[in-house]
Amino acid sequence: MGRIVILTGAGISAESGLGTFRDEGGLWAQHRIEDVATPEGYARNPALVHRFYNARRIQAAAAAPNAAHLALARLEAEHSDVVTIVTQNVDDLHRRAGSHHVLQMHGRLAGALCDICGHRWEAPPEMDEETPCPACHRAAARPDVVWFGEVPHYMDEIAALLAEARLFAAIGTSGQVYPAAAFVEEARAAGAETVEMSLEPTAVSHLFDDCLVGPATETVPRWVEGMLG
Ligand code: APR
Repeated sequence: MGRIVILTGAGISAESGLGTFRDEGGLWAQHRIEDVATPEGYARNPALVHRFYNARRIQAAAAAPNAAHLALARLEAEHSDVVTIVTQNVDDLHRRAGSHHVLQMHGRLAGALCDICGHRWEAPPEMDEETPCPACHRAAARPDVVWFGEVPHYMDEIAALLAEARLFAAIGTSGQVYPAAAFVEEARAAGAETVEMSLEPTAVSHLFDDCLVGPATETVPRWVEGMLG
């Protein structure tokens, strides 16, 4: 089959009850990015930022993988040597669905990061400015998520995967945030076939060979069925 790289965004978790960012009534309609998703916002008001991620962490822990997550886990189970999910999502629904080859390029809600010593550990459901780092014991715990202006994780691994991709799929992402929005062009440059799955056309739909429009819980299982023949 050749290398398969699957990029996912908030839309794949929408039917698990987790809000997307830019859809009507989405997270960025309720919160200012500058306040809750930048290092500057965190420095200005860490309590506000902790409240925002505590609420999302508790909601994500209560959510369950949906048919789209499960279908991708099945695809990986059938072709485990070639399937990799690169997700912008900070929920852990891909792993809970049974996928193993998952690169969380924007970090994890379930993780905590020490702002001073860089130690990482499993976050308690709720954190605040007093939450101590278990390694250096200083009160410097922050959510282990990548904020705007910070460098996403795994960029070298992702570039290497895209360079040898035979098939690139983007699921539930609006194509408005870089570097992820540019992955389709990197995959095309490597000669990959490209398919987009989204509830509605996106900012980058014109760059894909094929666009499947509809809820992910319908389009993804059907696409995987087709792949598995
Ligand atoms: N099924 C399929 N697609 C869906 C569904 C659904 N049920 N619901 C929404 N979508 C689509 C929307 O049409 C939209 O194209 O998912 C996309 C969600 O877009 P965004 O809210 O912009 O989320 P995403 O692309 O993941 O955002 C990228 O931006 O805010 C930052 O770091 C954050 O990782 C995030 C990044």
